[in-house]
Amino acid sequence: MTLHLRDFRIGDEAALRAVFHSSVHQLACKNYSPGQLTAWGPLQHDAAQWAARLRGNQPFVAEIDGCIAGFADLQASGYIDHFFVTGAQAGRGVGAALMGRLHQSAGSRGITRLFADVSLTAEPFFTKNGFVVEARQQVQVRGAVLANARMAKALAVCQS
Ligand SMILES: CC(C)(COP(=O)(O)OP(=O)(O)OC[C@H]1O[C@@H](n2cnc3c(N)ncnc32)[C@H](O)[C@@H]1OP(=O)(O)O)[C@@H](O)C(=O)NCCC(=O)NCCS
Repeated sequence: MTLHLRDFRIGDEAALRAVFHSSVHQLACKNYSPGQLTAWGPLQHDAAQWAARLRGNQPFVAEIDGCIAGFADLQASGYIDHFFVTGAQAGRGVGAALMGRLHQSAGSRGITRLFADVSLTAEPFFTKNGFVVEARQQVQVRGAVLANARMAKALAVCQS
């Protein structure tokens, strides 16, 4: 197995939507009801809006043996908007590799605090990576209410 990380490229949008959909419906299904999952990851979506969001977010993309397996982004504020691994590739180190890449990116960009609105499914993974829960939230998504957590991590600043 070869795991490779690269920058987002125009043309990735549909494949990343498939990763998002798979992640929500095959992994987050452990913690949310079918109705909540449909609201969070509907099959029908506005492809132009999705593409615009990804082009703005500029995620890092993980590939296993040349196939896209996950993606995650880091905004200038330190906010992680998306962090998803495709269902079939979960548990193979993709999330860990993406998290490492986000930390590396934060270091080179002078970002000293990471934060995200983390699903109940991903919360143990974020905790394992040093994030702490700052607030428990109930978010409205297309008519459904989903529980998640605002999690954050202060990064050590290297003094030179
Ligand atoms: C959470 C998620 C990103 C983890 O990605 P992954 O590729 O499966 O994680 P990895 O294989 O890199 O696992 C890294 C470590 O975290 C642990 N881990 C991963 N997911 C975990 C979970 N849900 N609970 C507890 N531990 C978890 C692994 O056991 C592994 O531990 P190890 O280093 O001791 O072996 C992925 O499962 C996912 O996309 N989940 C659903 C979508 C979602 O909720 N996204 C986040 C929205 S904020």
